[in-house]
Amino acid sequence: MEPNKETAEQALLEAEKSNPGPWADHSRYVAQACRNIAQHCAHLSAERAYVLGLLHDIGRYAGVSSEKHLIDGYRFCVERGWEKAAQICISHAFMIQDINTSIAVLDVSEADYLFMKDFVANAVYDDYDRLVQLCDALALPTGFCILEKRFVDVTIRYGMHKATVDRWKKTLEIKADFERETGCSIYSLLPGVEKNSFL
Ligand SMILES: [Fe+2]
Repeated sequence: MEPNKETAEQALLEAEKSNPGPWADHSRYVAQACRNIAQHCAHLSAERAYVLGLLHDIGRYAGVSSEKHLIDGYRFCVERGWEKAAQICISHAFMIQDINTSIAVLDVSEADYLFMKDFVANAVYDDYDRLVQLCDALALPTGFCILEKRFVDVTIRYGMHKATVDRWKKTLEIKADFERETGCSIYSLLPGVEKNSFL
């Protein structure tokens, strides 16, 4: 079971104190995007979506790192019995279920690398995994933005990787799937997206 909204917000606040950075506000916008989209999907819980969005980068509590934040977040959540949140701490970075599609540095031990490789290949994703993958690409630390703006922001920071275009395509597919479900443009569910996209 995941924590409730208050516990998740508190966990994020403490994690932010331990490693302050724009990642915390990014996480808050991801959570709001997850909630707003889930509200328009009959089979999803808006509060659960919000909590899972809020916790997806919680591994950053451990300090500045690259993909290590995925496993740090996984362990943080497993220790608290938050199993789905733990899965999403890893799955949000792998819309394609192959460790080789990582765009960041795998700054983890050999054992952790092997664990993650296996975990990513074998995890069974549901719409909460896909929703966080999508919303991660809709939120800058300053608010919501169009996917294409976030794609460029991430690519400037991480560099071009051989999987970059396939990751973009997969994220656009997930957007189309959610738009079929919500029956509207997801951007109509993200207040301030126009203004923030042009900032
Ligand atoms: Fe994120």
